[in-house]
Amino acid sequence: MSKNKKVTTRTFKRFKKSGKKITMLTAYDYPTALILDNSGIDGILVGDSAGMVIMGKDTTLEITLENMIYHTKCVHNAVKRSLLIADMPFLTYKINKNEAVKNAGRLIQEGGAAAVKLEGGEEVVPIIEAMLFADIPVMGHIGLTPQSVNKIGGYFIRGKKKSTASYIKRSAKALEAAGVFAIVLENIPAGLASEITSEIKIPTIGIGAGPDCDGQILVLHDVLGFYSDFAPRFSKKYTDLNKIISKAINSYISEVEKGKFPQKKHFIK
Ligand code: KIV
Repeated sequence: MSKNKKVTTRTFKRFKKSGKKITMLTAYDYPTALILDNSGIDGILVGDSAGMVIMGKDTTLEITLENMIYHTKCVHNAVKRSLLIADMPFLTYKINKNEAVKNAGRLIQEGGAAAVKLEGGEEVVPIIEAMLFADIPVMGHIGLTPQSVNKIGGYFIRGKKKSTASYIKRSAKALEAAGVFAIVLENIPAGLASEITSEIKIPTIGIGAGPDCDGQILVLHDVLGFYSDFAPRFSKKYTDLNKIISKAINSYISEVEKGKFPQKKHFIK
């Protein structure tokens, strides 16, 4: 596919049919979204992981709808080609359907997202249907759902037990029947992800779900090595920005302190 052709929810479905692996990363601001979009990434998720990697919290629970709209706007300003998806934050879609549709609509109308993502299995089908009735495309998210961290009691692999595995599989099929255009499978056994991927017609996007998903997504700050003290097992650090940025900042501090910066070319008399 041309690097300039706009990626849509239909493109995602076409990629699954053709066997082209779907590439996704998260982004939360203009400069990184610009790089991602220019690199030809298929999808950009403004994840509620912003609550952790941008706000510095231990969970995704504190990020608000207003915060998410702001980050989505910043990313939208940069994105020309990739499919832009925004996360519905905690408690913005499970209270009632009307509120859920209104909140999702704000991410589309004010934030500029092309679709929203929400966490949950078969129990969220009525919410998804209400959003689709309002013409809002929805991406599902099952397996480890970080917004349920306090209910589950931690960030564990989900689906090792037979009963949880069958709930996850049932949920994938229920979400497909409800009309989601793709499903994120987070932190589930690779075998289960593989079975789900072959049993549904819409694409699965894996994170910690093995190689057989139709695509992969990672959190940008993990990929870039922003944090030296945190590396999820399923992620891969493609560079060490923490080291690179620290080196640059230390050079700046040292040059200012030694009077080496600014030089003549940096100012006028
Ligand atoms: O919030 C997020 O970044 C996500 C991805 C990890 C899938 O939901």
